[in-house]
Amino acid sequence: MTQVDQRAPESAPERTLPPSGCPRLGVLASGRGSNLQALLDAIERGELSAQVVSVASNKADALALVRAARVGVPHQAFPRADYPSRRARDEEMADFLRRSGVDLVVLAGYDRVLATSVIAAFRGRMINIHPSLLPAFSGTLHAPAEALRHGVKISGCTVHFVTEDVDSGPIILQRAVPVLEDDTEETLAARILHEEHVALPEAIRLLAAGRVVLEGRRARIVPGPPTSERCSTTHGT
Ligand code: GRF
Repeated sequence: MTQVDQRAPESAPERTLPPSGCPRLGVLASGRGSNLQALLDAIERGELSAQVVSVASNKADALALVRAARVGVPHQAFPRADYPSRRARDEEMADFLRRSGVDLVVLAGYDRVLATSVIAAFRGRMINIHPSLLPAFSGTLHAPAEALRHGVKISGCTVHFVTEDVDSGPIILQRAVPVLEDDTEETLAARILHEEHVALPEAIRLLAAGRVVLEGRRARIVPGPPTSERCSTTHGT
């Protein structure tokens, strides 16, 4: 007799972003903003169907804000000193993103842990890029230096969903690079950054196509047609 397993699955698969064809992105960045620029460039070249609708930073002098200004994207700094608590700051920042109508929040070089209330509000709709092959070297702002200290031979970057456990949410995609014997923190970080600029648009493309499915703590990529449709507006509102 055939045994049929009638137990309910641990948790049902859950689609993340509904396929919209053109997600509205809110980007959080703390510094140089090269990942933000990579997104803007991919959109401009027609390689990513998305719109950057807002950029927020915890640092008033973040170059990311200048990059947003250059292309007319609404942007704002939220320095911690202007708010009674980190949570108050983060919630204001989340309201700013909501007002711009974001579908997806992208942490692109954002160097602070967000308030749990904000993480919960954007669950399944907030991603981060980290310069290591997670779960190695999570929770540090110096992942390439740690990779060298441990003598790993391969490193890379990871795009993952943001959850309350820092750098531990479901992994959407990873890209690997070799670690060379004469690497310094700078040369390794630059090699990884080059891959980040490919990985982040690619992850958003997958999400926009509705091809990322959450199964428990795992994000699975399911087959689907390539998305090539261009948004009518590329930046701003
Ligand atoms: C990147 O390496 C990113 O992975 C890390 O911070 C760096 C930010 O670079 N979280 P940029 O500001 O996007 O140039």
